[in-house]
Amino acid sequence: MQTKVKWIRGGRIITATEDFQGEILVGNGQILAIGSDLQALGLVGRSSGALGDVEEIDARGLYVFPGGVDPHTHLDLPFMGTSSSDDFETGTIAALSGGTTSIIDFAIQTQGHSLGEALNQWHEKALGKATIDYAFHMAITDLNEKTQAEIPGLVQGGITSLKCFMAYKGALMIDDGQLFKLMLQAKQLGALVTLHCENAELIEVLVQKYLSEGKTAPVYHELSHTAIGEGEATHRAIALSRVAGHPAYVVHLTCDEALHAVKDSLTRHQHPVYSETCPQYLLLDRKLYEKPGFEGAKWVMSPPLRTERDQEALWAGLRDGFIQTIATDHCPFNYSGQKDRGMDSFAKIPNGAPGIENRLNLLFTYGVLKNRISLNRFVQLTSTNPAKIFGMYPKKGTLAPGSDADIVLFDPTRLSTISVAHSKHRCDYSAFEGFKTQGEAVSVLVRGEWAMKDRKILATRGVGQYIPRQRFNAHQQWVR
Ligand code: URP
Ligand code: ZN
Ligand code: ZN
Repeated sequence: MQTKVKWIRGGRIITATEDFQGEILVGNGQILAIGSDLQALGLVGRSSGALGDVEEIDARGLYVFPGGVDPHTHLDLPFMGTSSSDDFETGTIAALSGGTTSIIDFAIQTQGHSLGEALNQWHEKALGKATIDYAFHMAITDLNEKTQAEIPGLVQGGITSLKCFMAYKGALMIDDGQLFKLMLQAKQLGALVTLHCENAELIEVLVQKYLSEGKTAPVYHELSHTAIGEGEATHRAIALSRVAGHPAYVVHLTCDEALHAVKDSLTRHQHPVYSETCPQYLLLDRKLYEKPGFEGAKWVMSPPLRTERDQEALWAGLRDGFIQTIATDHCPFNYSGQKDRGMDSFAKIPNGAPGIENRLNLLFTYGVLKNRISLNRFVQLTSTNPAKIFGMYPKKGTLAPGSDADIVLFDPTRLSTISVAHSKHRCDYSAFEGFKTQGEAVSVLVRGEWAMKDRKILATRGVGQYIPRQRFNAHQQWVR
């Protein structure tokens, strides 16, 4: 059913490059016009003629952003003997509540099975459940001739990024030779390889060493997943990408060691490498693993939280254009009933934490309001850059005529304190419990329809649509 044309008035419109007091006209799910005075242009007015009835939306006092694009989520992911606790319904409601209107989730191949099977499984998980739009990366965990033969069809169908794990030995990891072959194939097909960079061999030895010494507490997860190991793997991944002559994308980069490898590639070698970090690596630090008892398990994720010094390096990397995106790596497991599988061994704690809901309010509060990043940079990192890098732009990631009308009305004055008690995610804790925030998405349109209005979720399960993505073009203008 076609809904009324919407006319958003009086808000401060902020995109990756613009910032002005203006108006947006929305119809047929898209942005029809945007400007400082649409009435003066004769596009809309008291009697709107061809446009029919118009719904006026008062955005005075609000910021108007393009809908957030979260390029790294794990909904309904079977992992370490259990499954992430949010499915595509609860997880996308939580995302929406935080101002995210598109996600890219990871379809993950089960070793010994085909990529096609994984893709069908993920479509089944999402279809009829998602409340916002979604795309998939394909995680390759078993590269062989059969797998490689499936990849052109995937890329053709809009899965234009391939994920590799250099960690999780024996489960998800592929070796350097396979990784390199995949990069060559990605180059040929117009796909982007994304990488989880950690030295798996080093982790494995340290894990066994600590366990053999009876050291089973969550802090030993952090001690076995070293920043030096992450830096080494990042350097190695980039070396392979340089030999392949094709850009790569480093997911969830956590530390100065790894950032150093990225900077080196961009500056000394002029080789393009994109990188992503997450709010947890900017705002939380390794001391959380030293909490008494088993509580540190809440933050057991890979790579783990690092030091305050690393956080400062990441903020500088975001500001200076070495890190281009902020994702959540949302991968929630309940503390009770899931994380506690690892009570007697840190190596059995399911890796991951919730965060899909708090990306925008955390980055706004601790990035924009603390003058670490500008408002335009905020939009680049949370929306425009992921959309551009992953082939969804300008349908997603901006406010421009012809783009999908995914629009966030954001109140920059609204105060809140993050708590599991009022979180929408399906997980029994928040990784950011007690964090004070200023600024919050109050209303959201997804393809022109009200998905959240005055903090009330209106989107119904299944309205989210699959987004086939454009091929990766290595010669496109560099996204900072
Ligand atoms: O600990 C994490 N990050 N869990 C999700 C899987 C991954 O490595 O991204
Ligand atoms: Zn990962
Ligand atoms: Zn992940």
